[in-house]
Amino acid sequence: MDWKQDYENKKVSVAKAINKIKTGDNVYAGHASTISLTLMHEMCNQADRLKDIQIFMQLPLTEIEYIKPEMEESFHTTFLFANGAPVLDSIRKGKSDFIAENLSELPKIFLKGAIDIDVVFVQVSRPNELGMCSFGVGVMDNYALIETSKHVIAEVNSNMPFSESATIPISKLDQIVESSDPMVSFPVTPIDELSLKIGKYIADLIPDRANLQVGIGSIPNAVLKSLKNKKDLGIHSEMISDGVMELVKEGIINSKYNNLNPGKIVVTFLIGSQNLYDWMHYNSKILLKPSNYTNDIRNAGRVDNLMAINSALQVDLTGQVNAEMIGSRQISGVGGQSDFIKSAMLSEGGKSFIALPSTAKGETISRIVARLDEGACVTTPRHDVQYIVTEYGVAYLYGKTMNQRAEALIKIAHPKFREELMKSIKK
Ligand code: COA
Repeated sequence: MDWKQDYENKKVSVAKAINKIKTGDNVYAGHASTISLTLMHEMCNQADRLKDIQIFMQLPLTEIEYIKPEMEESFHTTFLFANGAPVLDSIRKGKSDFIAENLSELPKIFLKGAIDIDVVFVQVSRPNELGMCSFGVGVMDNYALIETSKHVIAEVNSNMPFSESATIPISKLDQIVESSDPMVSFPVTPIDELSLKIGKYIADLIPDRANLQVGIGSIPNAVLKSLKNKKDLGIHSEMISDGVMELVKEGIINSKYNNLNPGKIVVTFLIGSQNLYDWMHYNSKILLKPSNYTNDIRNAGRVDNLMAINSALQVDLTGQVNAEMIGSRQISGVGGQSDFIKSAMLSEGGKSFIALPSTAKGETISRIVARLDEGACVTTPRHDVQYIVTEYGVAYLYGKTMNQRAEALIKIAHPKFREELMKSIKK
């Protein structure tokens, strides 16, 4: 059938599309800026007729009616990456749930049937002249979900940018709802002096022609700001934000030496300002791939000079990294941290960095600790860690004994906690 006819046949009102959902269904709602707000709001409007809907999603960036107490009987949400006060609060109170997984595994969770999805929401661009819509700002697990879910509802958003590397034909969609919602942007974190100091230490260890993976948080952004005098950098990452766009515009990032995908900025999603989304529209330098491609160590590990730059909440004196929990409170997710730290280890010339301020809460808490807090988890094990960086310098842990690690880490702890940490290793 002609794709235009197919499109018209599938086009329905949002209320009719949501009518397809029935009590007890599992609904996948997307991630970050790809979460379909028109569909989510209508699902909440129909809460009275819906009970026990299990919603799966990650990294919500906007206000969320479905986790409000009055919606409890209708919706229960499971986050695959948690963030934001209302989400974290809901998990802490046991009202929502969390799944810890490597981002490389995300599509496989659905392909292997570990979670069955009845209805998936995807937000896509308008179709091009060939009848292909684009996943725009993020592909992640979308192909796996479209393949495995019983029913696919697409929100065709006229504001979604087009990426030619991540397209889907109309024939794969079951129902279409049109919208023109503004894309949800993510505030660019202001960079403080301390982060810049950490950024400079890392920048000193990054050679020209390196390929970068930059994680989430204020420090990865500060590292990018410190790379202004480097040459021919490349990107193989799970995500990028405005900082990468600026370095591409300045000619510092060109991926000329990205040996796996020369000339390409390889990511599974973008998160940032409207400027970033405008810049990526039909930008052929950006190669969007599912997260089981970008984050698979068999791909990322083949990228030469891969520099994995991630952050953490705590590091203990053996080098165990907690990037997810404050005590027993989940405040983030694994994301691609573990995937990329392993990949950097495999990469020819690769290095991995965990960068964090030495303290939290107005210098009252040390983030270099004798032991991780009770209830906290290990996001990256000590045997995978290479460089730990704070505003006091760099601890290189690779090939070091337990005592050497502790000593190196105490040197980069805040001076006011060093004595106490020293006593703890003597104990
Ligand atoms: N004890 C108590 N509070 C702590 C703490 C500790 N050990 N460490 C941090 N905090 C507090 C901070 O003070 C801050 O509080 P505030 O919001 O009131 O200022 C808050 O926790 C967040 O810490 P911050 O260092 O500002 O976080 P960030 O935005 O730089 O993000 C991570 C850091 C670790 C949460 C983030 O990098 C992450 O989510 N990582 C896991 C996933 C990952 O690495 N993926 C890789 C590719 S995306």
